[in-house]
Amino acid sequence: METFKKLKQYYWPYKRYFFLSLFSLFFVVLTTVAYPIVMQITVDDIIREENYGLVPVLSLVFIGIMIVKSISTFFHQYMGDYFGISTVFNLRDSLYKKLQSLSFHYYDNAKTGDLMSRLTADVELFRFFLSFGFSELVRITLLVLGSLSVMFYYSVPLALVTMASMPFLIVVVRKFDQRVHPAFRKIRKSFGRLNTRVQENVSGMNTVKSLSREDFEIDRFADKGDNYRQHYLNTATIWSKYFPLMEFIGNICVVSLLGFGGYLVMTGAIDVGVIVAYFTLIWYLVGPLMNFGFVINNFSQSKAAGERLLEILESEDEIKNASEPVNPQGVKGHVTFNDVTLTYVENDDQALKNISFDAPPGKTIGLIGATGSGKTSITQLITRFYEPEQGELLLDGRPIEDYSLKEMRKHIGFVLQEPFLFSTSIKDNIAYGNPEASMDDIIDAAKRAQAHDFIMAMPDGYDTLLGERGMGLSGGQKQRISIARAILINPKVLVLDDATSAVDMETEFKIQKALKEVMKGRTTFIIAHRISSLKHSDEILVLEDGAIVERGLHEQLLNNGGPYQRIYDIQYQDKEAILGENKQHA
Ligand SMILES: Nc1ncnc2c1ncn2[C@@H]1O[C@H](COP(=O)(O)OP(=O)(O)OP(=O)(O)O)[C@@H](O)[C@H]1O
Ligand SMILES: [Mg+2]
Repeated sequence: METFKKLKQYYWPYKRYFFLSLFSLFFVVLTTVAYPIVMQITVDDIIREENYGLVPVLSLVFIGIMIVKSISTFFHQYMGDYFGISTVFNLRDSLYKKLQSLSFHYYDNAKTGDLMSRLTADVELFRFFLSFGFSELVRITLLVLGSLSVMFYYSVPLALVTMASMPFLIVVVRKFDQRVHPAFRKIRKSFGRLNTRVQENVSGMNTVKSLSREDFEIDRFADKGDNYRQHYLNTATIWSKYFPLMEFIGNICVVSLLGFGGYLVMTGAIDVGVIVAYFTLIWYLVGPLMNFGFVINNFSQSKAAGERLLEILESEDEIKNASEPVNPQGVKGHVTFNDVTLTYVENDDQALKNISFDAPPGKTIGLIGATGSGKTSITQLITRFYEPEQGELLLDGRPIEDYSLKEMRKHIGFVLQEPFLFSTSIKDNIAYGNPEASMDDIIDAAKRAQAHDFIMAMPDGYDTLLGERGMGLSGGQKQRISIARAILINPKVLVLDDATSAVDMETEFKIQKALKEVMKGRTTFIIAHRISSLKHSDEILVLEDGAIVERGLHEQLLNNGGPYQRIYDIQYQDKEAILGENKQHA
């Protein structure tokens, strides 16, 4: 019940429909219970008394009852569904909203397929209980109570005898519940894993095919599929044992009714019509009790689904907004790191060690170093994608935690190492961070990013639709669109993470020339492997294993005898070698 209580805010706003549905249900049950009573009257007062004149009256009454039943069934159904569907709409929206606010840390460990199955299948399961399961529970209770009242009204001893085996039914139902709930949790988990496989496989199809790992993938999927099958079969076993057992116990009730009821008729304690009514009434007890298993099953599934939804809804937003966030106004873009240390995974090595630097407004900082040395990590701290373990990060002299996250991030433009494009038009992709931008602004940004020409060469120009993850563009084209996107938000701090790694030297040169102008008045962080990309920086930080091992201007570092000089020598030698080769060819 805890799960349902916690999710109350999502269904309670629609309680009106729920209660209307219950109200209609009341009439449904009332008319259902009237049915055996009509039977009893037919047998005892009409057939046995040979009172055939009453037939038309009784028929009319019966039709009346059935009309009421039909109408109330309609309202009961519709309102119940309305309640469930509206709740799910609300719930799914909130889940999606929550997914937007969760931190990078959460996504480091999250599996897309699993999240997908939570937002689709689990949400549906939860709805099913709200729409159907709960009211079924109420229907069962009302029907059992109604039938019992009628049974006791007709004959107390007969009611008691026919009910003698009910306790067994209840025990079986309880046992069933205890076994089926864990079984369903396993099914849901297994389904999430199955989804994850499909999702990962589809997005990694290039890698799979290029390494000829199709068979491996097929086997791996079969494993997961088999696991899912096993869990389902286990549950099916529980189910299939349950139903015959329930029906058997139900039939024992019928036998008691025949024996004891027959005896009562012979002694004249009850009329034959009562037995006829009892035949129906007994299944009004056994049926719901059997159904009770189904509803419990449904409830268990729903609870398991609800728990999985709550896992998302209740995950901590690790990166919290300040309690009284300051809206950054007139940001200058002064970024300061004071002795900053970062650890991604607890007890793991530090990804950044005692990083300190000062980037005054408008200056350019170059970051260079081997892969995995921590360049990207530094820039991710500026936007608070991750929280440092220790140390202080200032923007315009103020700790970044003081600012409103959203507002602060608006002032920081990021060209990610692996740019992501949506499957919309090129225009919309460029304007993603600034949807109000005019077409002129978009074109201007694209021109500066050296993207305009290739965009215009595409069939629909700026309206060209991209495939999933920007399919249909080369790596360098994606990078340039991503640069245009960053330029368009007109940020005070610009981070270019390997932004030109996938473009040729000539294009890089052009982009750099254009960027030089863009960078004016902005604090820029350039991450690059090529020295040519960052040699004009106001300060170059050379990283090794998460620590700054060298810093200074290009000219200073060049003859420092340190790692920078080594990198330069390698890249320079390459050039020499190529030039040498060219000479030989000539
Ligand atoms: N999300 C993460 N979770 C755990 N560890 C991470 C995460 N991101 C990076 N790391 C680790 O932190 C270290 C620094 O990574 P980072 O991405 O900053 O390197 P980089 O200098 O940008 O490398 P590259 O030039 O390849 O982009 C690496 O050892 C990496 O394995
Ligand atoms: Mg990186």
